[in-house]
Amino acid sequence: MKSDNQQKLRADRVWLTEDACDLNDFRALAEKTTVLADYPTASAVEKNVLIYDSHEVIEAASTPEGRRAVLAEICEAFGIGPGVVVFKHAYEDTDIIDRASAIFDGIIEEQHRTSTGGGDHFAKPGANDRIWNSLEKHCLADPENFARYYGNVIVALASEAWLGPHYQMTAQVNRVNPGGAAQSAHRDYHLGFQSSKVIEQFPAHVHRLSPVLTLQGAVAHCDMPLESGPTLFLPHSQTYEPGYLALKRQEFKDYFDQNHIQLPLEKGDVVFFNPALFHAAGTNRSKDIKRVANLLQVSSAFGRAMETVNRERMSTTLFPALKALKDKLSAGEIANAIASCAEGYSFPTNLDRDPPLGGLAPKTQAQLMHEALGENWSDDTFAKALAEQAARKLS
Ligand SMILES: [Fe+2]
Repeated sequence: MKSDNQQKLRADRVWLTEDACDLNDFRALAEKTTVLADYPTASAVEKNVLIYDSHEVIEAASTPEGRRAVLAEICEAFGIGPGVVVFKHAYEDTDIIDRASAIFDGIIEEQHRTSTGGGDHFAKPGANDRIWNSLEKHCLADPENFARYYGNVIVALASEAWLGPHYQMTAQVNRVNPGGAAQSAHRDYHLGFQSSKVIEQFPAHVHRLSPVLTLQGAVAHCDMPLESGPTLFLPHSQTYEPGYLALKRQEFKDYFDQNHIQLPLEKGDVVFFNPALFHAAGTNRSKDIKRVANLLQVSSAFGRAMETVNRERMSTTLFPALKALKDKLSAGEIANAIASCAEGYSFPTNLDRDPPLGGLAPKTQAQLMHEALGENWSDDTFAKALAEQAARKLS
């Protein structure tokens, strides 16, 4: 009898189910107050969300010990804290944002003109415009603006705080037109994009793993007053382990509808949040605001990103721009731009043709780019080396 009971307890521990989700358990975890004193670099708590002044964050992270402390603080804010952080004025120079917006507008017009561009898994056709893989399209259209945009210190800092180095940047533009309806509450990729039937097949540790494989971000490309429908969040909801299944249940959806918060954003602000946080895009009730956000989905070096990105083509395009910007961007900004463009991890590869030299891991695309930039290679030499490296990785 005793061992039967143990078996059942173990199975219940390992196999989370939609039926076992309990709103009271959830409320005991999620109904927490974010305490400003726990986050010494933050400047405020608004509606339970941590607000950081980007300038102060950069200042605090300017020494090695300071950086270590800031990364740790942001890491815990995403993990055991509210799960969502606003970085005010992450882009001090909003001309960078405006130029990127013009590029995105051009891409959207082209999609309309040629009836291309995919649908949206959350919205009715026409309610919004999407640019899938805006990362690569942005880089190919204007590598100089891409370098300035993804050279951003806050984007790199938040990504590294949650995922460590060598992360894989991906991005998608969402332009929600007036009248565009709210999304339903959800968690994000990976498990957030699966049905209960599939989610229930993964043991509990994978439910805990999924949130550390990505980080969600949004760069505000315009001012977003509440009427324009900035994202709805439920702070602290990422801490409920069976949350991927809970959101399929009506009482959790109702709870989200009654308790979510929403914060207005200004152009150049950036929000980052744990992909397991309950959230949904809001309804755009404004008369004339096209709410434009570039949604960043940053993947761990060890995970699979949602989108295919041709990082070789991007790197070839970005390289001449980075050479030209060497005196205009800091070494850190250039490294951030490379991190958002080139592949930062050695694997998968073909170990017959691409053996590790002087270590356990073969040279990465990002390392090659740093080397080429440091030694001022010609564009052709770099393009050839990139292509050869990519070929070596094929089976
Ligand atoms: Fe989402």
